[in-house]
Amino acid sequence: MEKEVLLRVDYEYFKKKILETSGIDLDAYKPRQMQRRIIESSYRMGFPTLRKYWYFLESNPQEYEKFLGYITINFSEFFRDPDRFQELERRIIPHLLTKTPNLRIWSAACATGEEPYSLAIILEEKFPGVANRILATDIDEVALSKAKQGIYDRIRLRNVSPQRLKRFFIREGEGKFKVIESIKKRVKFKKMNLLEEEFPKEFFSLILCRNMLIYLEDSVKNVLIGKLHSSLKKVGILFFGSTEKILCPHDAGFRCVGECFYQKT
Ligand SMILES: C[S@@+](CC[C@H](N)C(=O)[O-])C[C@H]1O[C@@H](n2cnc3c(N)ncnc32)[C@H](O)[C@@H]1O
Repeated sequence: MEKEVLLRVDYEYFKKKILETSGIDLDAYKPRQMQRRIIESSYRMGFPTLRKYWYFLESNPQEYEKFLGYITINFSEFFRDPDRFQELERRIIPHLLTKTPNLRIWSAACATGEEPYSLAIILEEKFPGVANRILATDIDEVALSKAKQGIYDRIRLRNVSPQRLKRFFIREGEGKFKVIESIKKRVKFKKMNLLEEEFPKEFFSLILCRNMLIYLEDSVKNVLIGKLHSSLKKVGILFFGSTEKILCPHDAGFRCVGECFYQKT
């Protein structure tokens, strides 16, 4: 087969797999640019064909996650990394509540709202008496307006248990679900550029900044980590995405208290 035809066949296969596994339709993006970025990524990782690249991604969840972030920086889903959310619910939030009776929480780079709504669900279900406020910010206004609507495709809810689906969502047309009002009311959305704007000082008990730092240059990333640090109250917690790490937490004023969790010292 000619090289170009092979590439096209491979790309069709790749697109189909991404759609099946993530619900992301690559055709929804500028196709030439998208194809070029994917091929570049494949070559960079050392795979001469997209089929081989797919086999690699399919068996390496962390790399797959990184790839999704690479192709669409707005990708999110409810309870992304379910094990970490369980840890948040069972260990981190109860620990924070031993230090403060109310929680100020910030979901920084919240994309289309799945992350702050997941938090709101946990709080309503497991900590109903706790006073809390969730601020959710993103640079992208389109994402924020979707977040405010709170309507999601089933694929974004794959980590939501049937019990939670029944209690916190209502069906909204074919294959779509809407977050109920009491959950929506817990979250305040606001546009904010994390790289440009000032943050409130020593204010939050818990900050989620997940799957955004992976796009940043190291120097920019370090400045942002410093700003997040100063925005946390003492012993407050910073919650990262599964592929993000602070290399020397001690130097940055944190200690690692679990996979993806850093406590301000
Ligand atoms: C992959 S999403 C992460 C969504 C969510 N935190 C999660 O982990 O599922 C990355 C988000 O970062 C946002 N973002 C990128 N640069 C930003 C910036 N400078 N300030 C604020 N948000 C930014 C994008 O708009 C996008 O919604």
